[in-house]
Amino acid sequence: MWFFTGPSLAYGPGAIEFLASLQSKKSMIVADRALVKGGLVAPVVEQLTKAGAEVEVFGEVDPEPLMSRVQEGAEVARRFAPDLIIGFGGGSAMDVAKAVYALYERPELTVYELTPIVDMVLGVKSRLVQIPTTSGTGSETTWATILTEGEGGRKLELAHRELVAKWAILDPLLTRSMPARLTADTGADALCHAVESMSSDWSNPFSDALAKEAVLLIFRYLPRAMKVADDPDARENMHYAATMAGLSFGNSQVTIGHALGHAFGSVFHVPHGRAVGLFLPYAIEYNFASAKPKFGNLSQVLGADSVRSPQDLSARVRSLWDEIGMVRTVPEIGGITRERFESSLPDLVRRTDESTCVTTNPRSPSKKEIEEIFRAAWDGRPVTL
Ligand SMILES: [Fe+2]
Repeated sequence: MWFFTGPSLAYGPGAIEFLASLQSKKSMIVADRALVKGGLVAPVVEQLTKAGAEVEVFGEVDPEPLMSRVQEGAEVARRFAPDLIIGFGGGSAMDVAKAVYALYERPELTVYELTPIVDMVLGVKSRLVQIPTTSGTGSETTWATILTEGEGGRKLELAHRELVAKWAILDPLLTRSMPARLTADTGADALCHAVESMSSDWSNPFSDALAKEAVLLIFRYLPRAMKVADDPDARENMHYAATMAGLSFGNSQVTIGHALGHAFGSVFHVPHGRAVGLFLPYAIEYNFASAKPKFGNLSQVLGADSVRSPQDLSARVRSLWDEIGMVRTVPEIGGITRERFESSLPDLVRRTDESTCVTTNPRSPSKKEIEEIFRAAWDGRPVTL
């Protein structure tokens, strides 16, 4: 027996109005620092106060959030005692909201005890609601949270099914001010989630259906969302596509593309979406033989006669990358010399090999193969392993 888990969805332009119906008396918002500075949290606060709630904003979340930030947020929650915890922002804010929610509900626990194998019994004091302001991470749907231990420290991937939000509110109006570069990076991340999910050993009929539709929408709308910032159709469809892709990989896992991207991003400090986007075509080529039936299903979606060879699919992704200005090779990232790349290879290979994302990859890569994929991404040549 298997399960498919996700939050209930409230969606549509203006969907943040739904907050008023949650009848919260005390709401805590966990938000990205940049959004608080930019005044973007104000409409959320307004919805809650209009409905009679007292509101506390914890707006201290930065990219790659530190464990210490979670502890601070949990302290605020214990003091304020909210009945609603709202993650507001990109993946970092929503990830911190999940961990704050767990530590508020179970103050006797540490984050290290958030393991999937025990019942947590969360949701006694509060409900968790997630509101994404970018269209890509899918964190609003998933049960995982990625936190960093100390400055430049190791990444902790924690997960528990009870960290899935009660509600995700998808309001595309919140994404209209996203800059073009962020739109491209986050949209690329969403495409990686969908394609990698399809190739995962844990893919299933439900994750496949959502991934397929997400791929279709992303190919159709990502270039538009990037070129015309306030194109309402493009913003709306990209926002839903990102959540579909999130539901998909949240129930099937991502694969080697994310393992390569996580390793590369943490060594060279490249934003997540750009790092995983760089490796997607190479990951498709490496996995193609093992995931051919699944990838073949994308022919209709991509308007192609067939997807018979790895290049049929990877070339489509590369041409989408060209349209949105996404990097296709390591040197295109800028600032990485050949010498630095070569000397980092052992570390890159080790990090990729140790990533939990390779567990569900349809092919089990050797260290030599991982190194070859990195070298192909430097040269910009297809992976023919
Ligand atoms: Fe991702």
